[in-house]
Amino acid sequence: MASKWPSNKLTHIPVLLKETVDYLNIKRDGIYLDGTVGLGGHAAAILSLLSENGTLVGIDLDEEALTRCKESIGAASNCHLISDTFSNIPSILETLNLSQIDGLLLDLGISSLQLDSPKRGFSYRFNGPLHMGFSMTSSITANEIINTWSESELRKIIKKYGEDRMAGSVAKTIVQQRSKSAIDTTTQLRKVISTVVPPRYLNKSLSRIFQALRISVNSELDALTEVLKNFMNYLKPGGRMVTISYHSLEDRIVKQAFRGHAKECICPPKLPICQCDHKATVKILTSHPIIPSEDEINTNSRSRSAKLRAVERL
Ligand SMILES: C[S@@+](CC[C@H](N)C(=O)[O-])C[C@H]1O[C@@H](n2cnc3c(N)ncnc32)[C@H](O)[C@@H]1O
Repeated sequence: MASKWPSNKLTHIPVLLKETVDYLNIKRDGIYLDGTVGLGGHAAAILSLLSENGTLVGIDLDEEALTRCKESIGAASNCHLISDTFSNIPSILETLNLSQIDGLLLDLGISSLQLDSPKRGFSYRFNGPLHMGFSMTSSITANEIINTWSESELRKIIKKYGEDRMAGSVAKTIVQQRSKSAIDTTTQLRKVISTVVPPRYLNKSLSRIFQALRISVNSELDALTEVLKNFMNYLKPGGRMVTISYHSLEDRIVKQAFRGHAKECICPPKLPICQCDHKATVKILTSHPIIPSEDEINTNSRSRSAKLRAVERL
């Protein structure tokens, strides 16, 4: 498969690439929007299937990723790369004078470039500032959360977004520690957490707590919920939406939203006659999520937890 798609000379290996392109069902003259264009791995494959009459819009919050994506795929006149959040898709389309599109892709979460860059503070494996914004101009940082949020707010996000059972004691220790001196770096935070979590659970807990902070800094679940509310309004009939998620919270939100939009009636089951007038707007194409093959997981361990879901606009 690697030889089938254009190489964009970048370190991020796009996840479920063939499956994504297949489910998007690319039309040569179609309009496609990649809402998480990142380093352009999926976008390069989509672009390679478009004619000069086709259009690709790539959106990302990460200015650095967009610069690198531009160098790699952005020269074509039918490719627009825009620094914004995907929850602003309706206004972005309006600015581009595009009313409806043939396909939308959201490959959620974080890229290898972000995760492996110490200065971004996403990983407990490197020392760096507690930033964690997808955009370097993010209005809030992990530092602010760790050093100013209350113990109960910290406990809540670690439990809700990290699903970590040690949330209570971790939050308490963070608050105790920061009253002595500010926690400014990933290494300092790691040290604080290691005083409460037993060594054999430490790496798992660190991953979960760092994930919880990242989700909070970037309001990830709110942005996803927002786009899932209204994507049907700008997908053409027959147009497709494909999502790739990497943790259960995201996947659950996508699954429930797709199911809701695919239902003919959303009345409580007790009502004998439908009173909601709800009409299905999409058809679910993946009754079960598509997951990577063992081969893909062996060549790209980041794909391990990926789940792809797709719908078609009716
Ligand atoms: C998994 S990476 C995408 C990788 C991309 N598919 C590729 O092949 O290179 C996820 C990207 O989504 C971006 N992102 C996350 N939330 C976003 C949002 N609300 N709006 C725009 N971009 C977002 C991140 O900055 C990151 O670059």
